[in-house]
Amino acid sequence: MKARIVGTGSYLPEQTRTNYDLEKMVDTSHDWIVARTGIEERRIADATECTSDMATIAAQRAMDMAGVTADEIDMIVLGTITGDYPWPATACIVQANLGAKNAFAYDVSAACSGFLYALSSANDFIVAGRGKRVLVIGAETLSRAVDWTDRNTCVLFGDGAGAILLEAQESDSGVLSCHLHSDGNFLELLYQPGFGAKHPVSVEGIGARLSYLKMQGNEVFKVAVRSLTEVSKEALAANGYTSADVGQFIPHQANLRILEATTKRLGLTEEQSFINVHKYGNTSGATIPIAIDEAYQQGLLKEGDLILSAAFGGGFTWGSALIRW
Ligand SMILES: CC(C)(COP(=O)(O)OP(=O)(O)OC[C@H]1O[C@@H](n2cnc3c(N)ncnc32)[C@H](O)[C@@H]1OP(=O)(O)O)[C@@H](O)C(=O)NCCC(=O)NCCS
Repeated sequence: MKARIVGTGSYLPEQTRTNYDLEKMVDTSHDWIVARTGIEERRIADATECTSDMATIAAQRAMDMAGVTADEIDMIVLGTITGDYPWPATACIVQANLGAKNAFAYDVSAACSGFLYALSSANDFIVAGRGKRVLVIGAETLSRAVDWTDRNTCVLFGDGAGAILLEAQESDSGVLSCHLHSDGNFLELLYQPGFGAKHPVSVEGIGARLSYLKMQGNEVFKVAVRSLTEVSKEALAANGYTSADVGQFIPHQANLRILEATTKRLGLTEEQSFINVHKYGNTSGATIPIAIDEAYQQGLLKEGDLILSAAFGGGFTWGSALIRW
């Protein structure tokens, strides 16, 4: 029994924020951002949109592609760190929006690795024979968690959502493996200090801008490249493949330099590596399902192709998935 991808969908908000727009907000330049990150623009949710809205549209599109109705869904798992509320889970709001009355739903908090963590849970659920169809979603409204006065971070992130629909099938195609890792010792290199239980909402906390994402970019960069490379090799070795067997490498879209360094270390060619970070920036848990949907729409994913995906994010968390399309 394998979990096969039978539908993909994505949603990007209409509003584009270019590097030139950012030049008017912080002390930065289009050239600096492109040279250091490869990002040219990102999408920003409008005031009426939040994570559940974008996730619902992406999920509905994945269901439409597969021709599956809401009551045929058994489980909805959503990777996000920018849910609509601290609790309950945003996946429950998506479940209600879709009318997926037979599905149970929960969120996974693994930052930029959230989608692959969610995919791993969904795959285990299907392989164990506990259900037939699972929506796996990554959706983020990072524009509400980013400090738009901090040039070190605000240039990197954007909003969006992507989804895949997994279906149990007797097939050689589908998810071949998932490998996940965490190391909580690196927490303070990439995190949101407030307003959880440690630093609840306070006037001082608001003044110190504790509710915004904080990052030490240099350090994150080094560990990200190393971890993405290692966990990708782990996926290939576990299945007896090499880089030459990969049809498309669909990594978390953090920034172009991380992607290029990882691709090079893995010995993959440019043609094998899918990149859209220039258009959307880093949408955290949403980058991989958005990229899968775009790669599919562009005709880059053909039946039988080997798809390698890898992610890295706050926690630290990192992981990989190998999929036979
Ligand atoms: C954030 C990142 C682009 C910064 O690039 P960098 O080459 O490491 O740059 P540094 O942080 O060393 O800063 C170099 C200089 O640029 C400045 N700088 C930082 N952001 C800037 C910006 N947006 N515009 C202009 N200058 C900027 C710094 O203040 C620093 O100035 P100084 O030398 O006067 O102190 C890079 O570290 C990175 O991509 N890190 C990974 C981040 C990431 O992907 N996180 C998510 C992982 S899931």
